[in-house]
Amino acid sequence: MRVLITAGPTREFFDPVRYISNPSSGKMGFALAEAAHEAGWTVDLVHGPVALKPPAGVTAHAVVTGEEMHAACEPLFEQCDLLIMCAAVCDMRPKQREPQKVKKDALRMTVEFEATRDILKTLSARRRSGQVLVGFAAETENVEAYARRKLEEKNLDYIVANSVAPGGAFEADDNTVQLIPQTGKPLSFGPASKADVAQWIVNQLKSSVA
Ligand code: C5P
Repeated sequence: MRVLITAGPTREFFDPVRYISNPSSGKMGFALAEAAHEAGWTVDLVHGPVALKPPAGVTAHAVVTGEEMHAACEPLFEQCDLLIMCAAVCDMRPKQREPQKVKKDALRMTVEFEATRDILKTLSARRRSGQVLVGFAAETENVEAYARRKLEEKNLDYIVANSVAPGGAFEADDNTVQLIPQTGKPLSFGPASKADVAQWIVNQLKSSVA
């Protein structure tokens, strides 16, 4: 059983020292990697910049931007039986990345953005039969409805929905999740530590990938 897990944020740069990102800590994805390893699976963990040490026994691949995350995931996806895409990939990036640090008096106060690649959608478009694909949906409102839409749009087997409203999942040690399958009823778990949530998710997925 090979599993590919992504975790943490990505960064998109304006110039070499300035970027946009999000507050993802990587805790949920790292906990999933640990739980998957404990389940006896072979784990590749592709992660953005985080302050965490990869769990022992897991092969970690550190990346920074969304394009780097995609490049790292592509060959690993070919080989995996299960993909859990937990990373908080930046949806947009500055259209222009200046090669040198922009001096303060030359900074423009308006920045044009462009959409980044949807990594999960790109990978899912060439999924092979037998592979199980799991996405995450971080929402501030209408959590279940928005998550279901993503499940369909990205052609996934499951989506894990969680709230990132104030006091929600980003950076926190605890999480409350709903595991929504393509067919069948959603299951809920939590509030619980991210380690317990991760173990629960891995247990739920075991029967799908056996
Ligand atoms: O559309 P949204 O960003 O809310 O979807 C969340 C899911 O899609 C997560 O599993 C996330 O890792 C993945 N994603 C991605 N590439 C993006 C944005 C999100 O793979 N550019």
